[in-house]
Amino acid sequence: MDFVDLKTQQLRLKPKLESRIQAVLAHGQYIMGPEVFELEAQLADYAGVHQAIGCASGTDALLLALMAFNLRPGEAIFTSPFTFVATAEVISLLGAVPIFVDIDPRTFNMDPDKLELAIRALNSNDASIHPLPKFFSPNSELRTPGLIPKGIIPVDLFGVPADYDRINAIARKHGLYVIEDAAQSFGAEYQGRKAGALSDIACTSFFPAKPLGAYGDGGMCFTRDEHLAEVMRSIRIHGQGLDKYENVRIGINGRLDSLQAAVLLAKFEIFPEEIEGRQQVAASYNELLRPLSAGGALFLPQIPPGVKSAWAQYSVLARDSKARQDLIQKLKAASIPTAVYYPIPLHLQTAFSFLGYREGDFPVSEDCAGRIFSLPMHPYLKPEDQERIAKIFKE
Ligand SMILES: Cc1ncc(COP(=O)(O)O)c(C=O)c1O
Repeated sequence: MDFVDLKTQQLRLKPKLESRIQAVLAHGQYIMGPEVFELEAQLADYAGVHQAIGCASGTDALLLALMAFNLRPGEAIFTSPFTFVATAEVISLLGAVPIFVDIDPRTFNMDPDKLELAIRALNSNDASIHPLPKFFSPNSELRTPGLIPKGIIPVDLFGVPADYDRINAIARKHGLYVIEDAAQSFGAEYQGRKAGALSDIACTSFFPAKPLGAYGDGGMCFTRDEHLAEVMRSIRIHGQGLDKYENVRIGINGRLDSLQAAVLLAKFEIFPEEIEGRQQVAASYNELLRPLSAGGALFLPQIPPGVKSAWAQYSVLARDSKARQDLIQKLKAASIPTAVYYPIPLHLQTAFSFLGYREGDFPVSEDCAGRIFSLPMHPYLKPEDQERIAKIFKE
C-alpha cells in the first residue's frame, strides 16, 4: 500500500502525459513555453480569479507574494507554528519576523481569537497578552519596539481552508494583507469560493505528493489584483521590466518549467474527479473509524460547515504520543505507511531559535505535534485497504 499512489494515476494518464511532454520536446520552449500560460489560464478559471502566476515551487510562491507586498526588515507577519517550515522561512528570508499564532485544535488552522490577541500584543508591545518573539518582549535587552505588523499568512493545513471570513475581517480592521498558504488546499472550497480565491494572494504548491502534483517542483500564485499580479510576474523573472534585459526591481529566478506545466495540464484534466475521489476515501475513513473516535481512542478530522477539504492528508490524533507510537508500529508491521505532519512546531525548531520562543508558548500546536499522524490518502485507495487499516486500529 502506498501513502500517496502516483503510479496508478500515471498509468491512467500515460497517453495524455506523453503527448503533452512530446509537445514541449517538439517546440523546445523549455522556459516560459506556452504550457505555462495555458496552465495559468486554466487554474485561474478553476479557482475563480483572473490572475495566476506559475512559479518554481510553493516556497517561491510565498516569497513572490511577500516580495510583491514589499516586506522589509522591521516588519512582522502573523502565521501558524503548525505548518511546513516554508511558510515562516520566507518571512525570515526577507529579514522580517514571523509572529506565531496558535491553532484551533479542531481544524489545526490559525485560531482567529488568538490572532486578535497577537495583534494587540504586538501593537502594545506586551508579551503578557500573547507570546512574542524574544527580542520584542519587555524583559529583553534586545527589545525592539516599533516592529510593524504588515500581514497574515493563514495555512490551509491538510487541505482545509482556514477561517477566512474572520481572518479577512481582522486584517481589514488592522490594515493588514492576507496571503493564503494554499500549498495543501488547491481544490478545496470555503463558503462557496475555491481555495486560491480567499484572500489578497493565494500560494499553492505542485510538489509531487500534493493533490495537484507535478513530476518535480512547481507552484502558483493567485490574485484578483492586477497590479500585484504584474509585480509577481516581474519578480519571478529577476524583476524584469518591459523586456528581458530591463530590470526594474530585485527579483528571483522563480519560473515554472514548461515540462512541469505540461505534466500539470495532463493531470488537471482529471483533477476535479480526483478531488471527488478524495471525498469518498475520507468519508469511508470517517465511517470505519467512527467507533474508535466515539471511544476516545482517536480524534478524527473535523471539517467546518461550508468547507470542502482537498484532503491533502487524512490526519488523526491519538490519545497521547505513546499511543501514537504504538499505532504507527502496528500499522508498519502490517506494511501500512503513515507520516507525522508535523513532529516539531516551528517555534521550537532550531532554525527559529533566534526568535526566543519557548516550550509552552503555543500549547495546542505542541499537543497536536505529539499526537498527530496521517494515514494513506489518495483518490485510488481501495475500500479493502481502508478496511484493513481500520481492522488494525480496532485490534
Ligand atoms: C503548508 C505548506 N507551505 C508551503 C510549502 C512549500 O511548497 P514547496 O515544497 O512546493 O516549496 C508546502 C509544501 O510542502 C506546504 O505544505
